[in-house]
Amino acid sequence: MIDLHSHVLPGIDDGPEDLEESLAFVRMAGQQGTTLLAATPHVRSDHPRVHVDELAERCTELNELVPPEPDVLVIPGAEVDVFWAQGATDDELRLASLGQHGSDLLVETPYGLLPDSFEDMLFRLSVRGFRVLLAHPERNPTFQRDPERLRELAGRGVLIQITLPSVVSRERGSRSRKLAFALVREGLAHNLASDSHSAGDFRPPALRAGVQAFDELAPAYAEWMVTDAAAAILEGEPLPNPPRTGGGRRGIRLPGRRR
Ligand SMILES: [Fe+2]
Repeated sequence: MIDLHSHVLPGIDDGPEDLEESLAFVRMAGQQGTTLLAATPHVRSDHPRVHVDELAERCTELNELVPPEPDVLVIPGAEVDVFWAQGATDDELRLASLGQHGSDLLVETPYGLLPDSFEDMLFRLSVRGFRVLLAHPERNPTFQRDPERLRELAGRGVLIQITLPSVVSRERGSRSRKLAFALVREGLAHNLASDSHSAGDFRPPALRAGVQAFDELAPAYAEWMVTDAAAAILEGEPLPNPPRTGGGRRGIRLPGRRR
């Protein structure tokens, strides 16, 4: 599996505090069957220790200490703040892109209500030559209330990444979980990632558990999101056709929404 969202680098954002925990983190990811782990620290003003020109070297340093088994390679990337991205240079965006390939950018969905200009900010990145992979839109209250806005974004080429905390939520009725499952049912989710933060109980890199959450709904589709689709995103290639989910286009229905 390829995990395109993790906070595995030590001591720079809200991931592990030290190298020892980062190594345990990588080991745990490998035990889940993850072979490629993108280190995607927050590039955001409240994480001033994250510098995009240091990410490759930090990954190299970590990889040099990762034992050969299980086999996991940590690659550079970032979870970029959409406002930061507007003022970033092309070179900074390239250094923040997944694998530093200069093609796909993991953009964080803000936590609060979205401004009307949100879509325009994403499209400005597309105009500059980057494909946007939107992290955890299912957690955002604007998208939860108005999933059509998300469907339109996907229709215009924005890729959707749902994340582990939403799909393994114990709250079966949670809005994040419902939207994540609806996106998979409609074939609008392109990637599933861990958004892992620690080797402990707080958001571990348990990507296999995320795939298993779709055992009843769409197991082949879930596998596709963490293998073929993830590989294409990393390489900046068009996504291969997904397996059918069997869900059809039933619409995203959320509690309290009349259609
Ligand atoms: Fe994250």
